[in-house]
Amino acid sequence: MKEIVLSGIRATGQLHLGNYYGALSKFVRMQEEGIYDSYFFIADLHALTTHPDPKILHNNVKSILSEYLAAGLDPEKSTIFVQSDVPEISELYLLLNMHVGIGELMRTASFKDKARKQLGIKSDNDNDDNIEREIIGTDSNKRVNAGLLTYPTLMAVDILIQHADYVPVGKDQEQHLELTRRFARRFNSVYGVEYFKEPTNFNFGGAPVKVPGLDGSGKMGKSEGNCIYLLDEEKVLRKKVMRAVTDEGPKEPNSPMSEPIKNLFTLLELVSTPEKVKFFTDAYNDCSIRYGDLKKELAQDIINVTAPIRERIIDIQNNDEYLAKAVRMGAERARARASKTLEEVRQIMGIKRFW
Ligand code: TRP
Repeated sequence: MKEIVLSGIRATGQLHLGNYYGALSKFVRMQEEGIYDSYFFIADLHALTTHPDPKILHNNVKSILSEYLAAGLDPEKSTIFVQSDVPEISELYLLLNMHVGIGELMRTASFKDKARKQLGIKSDNDNDDNIEREIIGTDSNKRVNAGLLTYPTLMAVDILIQHADYVPVGKDQEQHLELTRRFARRFNSVYGVEYFKEPTNFNFGGAPVKVPGLDGSGKMGKSEGNCIYLLDEEKVLRKKVMRAVTDEGPKEPNSPMSEPIKNLFTLLELVSTPEKVKFFTDAYNDCSIRYGDLKKELAQDIINVTAPIRERIIDIQNNDEYLAKAVRMGAERARARASKTLEEVRQIMGIKRFW
């Protein structure tokens, strides 16, 4: 029996280079290794916790699905599915929630972050008591939805319902994975069974990649507005890169790099040849570097990566039949395993039918 790999991306908009290098390219590589039974899905239920807009939800699912397929995920080799096509996930989510504490969910970093956003509180120097009061407070008509609180339960279920061994995710998801392991252990010990296994992250031996944004600080992220999308047109993409934040340039040989410059080099390392990286590093160190030249090369090398993918995305988006076939096959396979798990969990928990 092959080991199981499973991962997903939330359906909240188009994928950017951060998603590509942080997640999708790893999915493709795991699929191509051929030694795993792999499951890749689009988390549309998770998207509802922050993006509950019926006018765009389906389109967001469709764009990620097209991007998965365009990047090389193959429905013949991997199980590719939409989360909501597997209703067993929703039922197990209800059951598992009975063993999850409100307190541990409230202490999750991503919850505190997103709850603050939903309440419109700045994240810097607010202490946690403050959020708790705001959440419980009755005088506020702003609310933090319960789905956001139980996000980690749903993610744990995505993973546990398929008995996944490996979950390739970025660094920002490690806490969720830790909770998944904790919930698995807890379920096993509450019922005195050895049922769920504890999944681990997977990064091909390297550290999880963090793709920086173009605004000089932090990582590339949809909400940060510093992204390069796989679907960006060449002109737009060049413009974004040319406008990336830099500094005044090195004043003396071998000076340390400021964060915006380091970020440009990190991007260059992802898309360019080692020779080119060395060329610009040397130029930085002897103060002859011209950031304009660096950006031109960087933009071109990003385009070399994204242009072929972009073409395929557009093709695939127009092929409704292929899209439907891919996720239908995926849903069937994912449901087959999920319903077996759900049935076993119902048994373990003592839920019995009269007929
Ligand atoms: N929480 C993940 C993210 O925001 C998406 C996700 C949902 C996921 N369920 C998952 C990732 C299960 C891996 C496995 O990126």
